[in-house]
Amino acid sequence: MLKNDQLDEWDRENFFHPSTHLAQHARGESPNRVIKTANGVHIEDRDGVKLLDAFAGLYCVNVGYGRQEIAEAISAQARELAYYHSYVGHGTEASITLSKMILDRAPANMSKVYFGLGGSDANETNVKLIWYYNNILGRPQKKKIISRWRGYHGSGLVTGSLTGLELFHKKFDLPIDNVIHTEAPYYYRRDNLDQTEEQFVAHCVTELEALIAREGADTIAAFIGEPVLGTGGIVPPPAGYWAAIQAVLKKHDILLVADEVVTGFGRLGTMFGSDHYGIEADIITIAKGMTSAYAPLSGSIISDKVWAVLEQGTDENGPIGHGWTYSAHPIGAAAGVANLKLIDELDLVTNVGEIGAYLNQSMTEALGNHAHVGDVRGEGMLCAVEFVKDKNNRVFFDAADKIGPQISATLLAQDKVIARAMPQGDILGFAPPFCLTREEADTVVAATVRAVKTVLG
Ligand SMILES: Cc1ncc(COP(=O)(O)O)c(C=O)c1O
Repeated sequence: MLKNDQLDEWDRENFFHPSTHLAQHARGESPNRVIKTANGVHIEDRDGVKLLDAFAGLYCVNVGYGRQEIAEAISAQARELAYYHSYVGHGTEASITLSKMILDRAPANMSKVYFGLGGSDANETNVKLIWYYNNILGRPQKKKIISRWRGYHGSGLVTGSLTGLELFHKKFDLPIDNVIHTEAPYYYRRDNLDQTEEQFVAHCVTELEALIAREGADTIAAFIGEPVLGTGGIVPPPAGYWAAIQAVLKKHDILLVADEVVTGFGRLGTMFGSDHYGIEADIITIAKGMTSAYAPLSGSIISDKVWAVLEQGTDENGPIGHGWTYSAHPIGAAAGVANLKLIDELDLVTNVGEIGAYLNQSMTEALGNHAHVGDVRGEGMLCAVEFVKDKNNRVFFDAADKIGPQISATLLAQDKVIARAMPQGDILGFAPPFCLTREEADTVVAATVRAVKTVLG
C-alpha cells in the first residue's frame, strides 16, 4: 500500500492527543510516531522502525502483541454479535463467562463484577457505589474518599481528583470536595532520612490517623490505593505497610478499594496484587490486563459485604441507577475470555515471577552503584530507576533539567527501547509484557546502561 504522506499533517491539524504538549505538537516541534504493527514485545512504526516496548503500551499489553487467539475471538464475536447491552438482566455468553473467570481468580470474599470500559470509569463507578452504600446504610455524611499523594486512579472529575499528581489537578479545578490525600508509601522519598522502613510505615499510619481525626471518621467512606504505586513512580510499598493501613481502616469502618488496574491479572507474579500483599479489599478495580488492551474493558469487583448492601438498596429503591451503553461490551468480553485463557495456557504469571526478578536483579547490578542512580526498585514485571544529582545527600535534580525524559529519549534514539519517563520525578519506568525473555531483559538493561552513560556519564 502506498504511504499516505499527508498523515503527519493530518495528525498535527486534527488529532487531540492525550497527555501531550498540545501547542508544541500542533506546531510540529515535538516528535510524533505512527505505529503500524506489533508482535511479541516489539512495535513497528510506518517507516519500518522496530522498537522494543519495555512498557507494554501503558502497562497493558500483558500477553504481548500480535496474539492471534485474541484477534480470532474478537473477530468471531463481532461476526456473531457485535453488540447488545447488559441493562435489565441482559448478557452475552462472553460477558457471563468472563465474570465467572474473574471471580474464580479473585480473592474469596468477592461476589460480582460490574464492567466498564477503562480504569477511570471503573473508579468513577466505585465512588458512586460507595456513596450509594453509605446512603443505604443511613449515614449520608460518610462520603469522603482518602487517596495517596502520587496515587494514580484516572483522569475524570472524581478520578482525576483521586490521582495525587500535580499535573492532573493544575488548572482543572481539582481535586473536588470529598477527596482528600495522605502520605505516599514512598520510602526513598521520605522526609526524614534517619527513618528505618519500619519507622516510615509507622509515620504513614500516624499521618493517616491524623487525617481521619481531623476530618472525622464519620465523614470518611473509603480509602483507595494501588498495591504498588504505578504512575506515581513505580514504588512497591515498604514491608508491613498494607497490614498497618488496613488495621486503621477497619477500626474506623472505612472501605478499602484496591486499584489493581496495573497489578491485576499477573503483573506482580500473582493473579492479583491483593494476594501478593495480603490486601483484603472491599472493591477491586480492574482494566488493562483483563484484555491485555486488545479491546477496552474495565471492571469493579464487588465484595460480598458491599454487594449485600447494594441488593438491599435496590429492594428499597428499585433498579440501580448506574450503567454505560457499553458496559460489558461483547467484544471486550470476548477479548477478556481469550486473554485470561492465554495467560493460563502459557503460564505467563510464572514467567512474570522469574523474568521480572531477573530484570530487577540485572538492573540493580548494572546501575545500583552509579553515582546518579539513587534507587532501583520493582516487583514482578515492574521496575524503576530513580536518578539523583547527589546520591549521598539524596539531592534530586531540578525538574527543569528533565533528566528522566532525556534518558528515555536517548534510550529510544540509541537502542530503540521504550521505557517511560514517569511524570513526577526523574524516574525511568519499565513494565514489559509478561512474555519477556531473559535475552530481551538483557537487551533492555544493556540499552539502559548506555543511555544513562550518555546522559549522566
Ligand atoms: C492504577 C490505575 N488506575 C486507573 C487508571 C486509569 O485507567 P484508564 O486510563 O484506562 O482510564 C490507570 C491508568 O494508568 C491506572 O494505572
